[in-house]
This record gives sequence, C-alpha cells and structure tokens, in this order.
Amino acid sequence: MTVTTALDPARLRRVFGAFPSGVTAIAALIGGRPVGLAASSFTSVSLDPPLVSVCVAHSSTTWPVLRPAPRVGVSVLSAGQEDACRRLSARDGDRFAALDWRSHDSGAVVLADAGAWLECSIEQQVRAGDHDIVILRVHDLDADEAISPLVFHGSQFRRLLA
Ligand SMILES: Cc1cc2nc3c(=O)[nH]c(=O)nc-3n(C[C@H](O)[C@H](O)[C@H](O)COP(=O)(O)O)c2cc1C
Repeated sequence: MTVTTALDPARLRRVFGAFPSGVTAIAALIGGRPVGLAASSFTSVSLDPPLVSVCVAHSSTTWPVLRPAPRVGVSVLSAGQEDACRRLSARDGDRFAALDWRSHDSGAVVLADAGAWLECSIEQQVRAGDHDIVILRVHDLDADEAISPLVFHGSQFRRLLA
C-alpha cells in the first residue's frame, strides 16, 4: 500500500473531483440484454487513429461482463439525464428498465437523448493502480451540439449556464 495518510482516498477524491467532467454511459447487449455503467473518466485520446479512453475500477462487477462485447456504445449524457446516471451506477436493480435506449446492429447500446454517442471496440487495456485505462477505437459517432451536457464536479451534478 503506497497511499500515505496525507493522500487518503477522501482527499484524493475531493481534489480529483475539482476537475469538472462530463458523464458517459458505456453499454452493450450481452446475451440480448443491455449491460452498462456510468463513467466520468471518459476522454478523447487520438484523431488518427480515432481513439478515446475510459478508466474502469478493478472493483467493477459490470466491466468483466461488458468487456467481451465486440462493440460498446459510449453515450455522452445530457443535462436532463441525472437520473439515468444514477440508475447506471446503482448497485441494485435493472439499470436499463426505466431508460430509453437503443442498440446498434453491432450490439453497442446508446441512450436516447444523449448529446453524443460513439460506437467503439476495445483497443487496449492498461493496468493503472486500482483502475484499468481502457483505450477504445471509434468506429462510428455522432453528436447533437444543441444538447447541453451533464457536468460532474465536486461530487455533484451540474449544468452549463450557456
Ligand atoms: C457520476 C459517476 C461517474 C462514475 N465514473 C466512473 C468511472 O469513470 N469509472 C468507473 O469504474 N466507475 C465509475 N462510476 C461508478 C460506476 O458507474 C458503477 O457504479 C461502478 O462500476 C459499480 O457498479 P458495478 O459493480 O456494476 O460495475 C461512476 C459513477 C458515477 C455516479
């Protein structure tokens, strides 16, 4: 264990959380049913080849189920999708039961009303502490710039003013 008391998890969370981010839903059909999780660690990586990344905790029980999917959908949640985000991170229940979602022929699952979606395959996975950095190759994508994003900052959901 390399974490010192000066860098305890609560302090790390507080300071890491000072960096505002969007929130994404990473999801795919597994055995015909949607499986997914909310992730705020999404970031764009490369234009050529087109790559994005997301960091997934080793403690995730959903990621090992999702990982074998040939394609995963990445949905950029919109300002009105706070509740969807809560559902997609909930420990219990069917995360998708009350959500409006669609699947692509590839099995990638995207949420209706998301501000953007990307269809990706897993390119590489890099162990990094208690997370894996998952590098995703983008095969298709679209965005509606008129849709305002959900923002996660300081452990709270926020919205852009303009
Ligand atoms: C706003 C928000 C952002 C999150 N971002 C991540 C993330 O980037 N990586 C991650 O592994 N889990 C993230 N989570 C937690 C997952 O959504 C999920 O709760 C966690 O993986 C535990 O569920 P599981 O065991 O089904 O995987 C986030 C949760 C919330 C509410």
